[in-house]
Amino acid sequence: MKIIHCNNYEEMSAAAANLVCDAIKEKPDLVLGLATGSTPEGMYAELCRKYKDGKVDFSKVTTVNLDEYCGLPADHPQSYLTFMKQNLFDHVNLNPAKTFLPNGNTEDHDAEAAQYEKMVEALGFADVQILGVGRNGHIGFNEPAEALFTKTHMTALTKDTVRANSRFFASVDEVPKHAITMGVGTIMAAKHIVLLASGEGKRAAIATLLGGMIDTICPVTLLQLHPNVTLICDDSAWPRRRSAEA
Ligand code: GLP
Repeated sequence: MKIIHCNNYEEMSAAAANLVCDAIKEKPDLVLGLATGSTPEGMYAELCRKYKDGKVDFSKVTTVNLDEYCGLPADHPQSYLTFMKQNLFDHVNLNPAKTFLPNGNTEDHDAEAAQYEKMVEALGFADVQILGVGRNGHIGFNEPAEALFTKTHMTALTKDTVRANSRFFASVDEVPKHAITMGVGTIMAAKHIVLLASGEGKRAAIATLLGGMIDTICPVTLLQLHPNVTLICDDSAWPRRRSAEA
């Protein structure tokens, strides 16, 4: 695993945006896997800035998002589609016909998940997959469990994740309790995984990731099995050594 330990959130965001731009320069028709959440917001802002400055061209890029809540209308302010529009899609020259997210607002979530998996597979999976991590180590919405799904599927969110994500909703009751997410196999099929981590809340997950053991109770640890992972971590998420006095 390649590790880029940044001093702060701004450096982390710039490093991630540079990496994405270099990948697009090298392969203009890149399949770019995208994540939502607070962590990649700075990277998206930087990508929009770079596009405005003429430094990157998204016209041939295809994007595939990791996940989407179930039961929210697509235009709901907290849907991941809305997030992507506000943070990236509406500001750069991506072709709207080439930006994909699972549709969580459907009757048949299993059929939607299967169709999404097929679509991502037909694209050859992501060339570069941007990933965040939950406080509990979840990736996409693959929550800690004794066994993990390999393919795209509908899943229940843990109480911890519902609580963590309630900061974006008026109340915890409004947070969807289910989502459609790429499975760990879909994520691991990406050719290059770029994991972003920022904030003290992520320290435990990053420490477990770097601890050298695989455990489905901390799904991010599976990334140790991937041959091409870049962890871009800011200092607040970097695991501390326990001092002798503590
Ligand atoms: C969400 C998303 C994940 C994201 C994670 C962390 O639940 N499904 O893709 O990585 O939580 O979010 P944040 O970056 O806001 O801490």
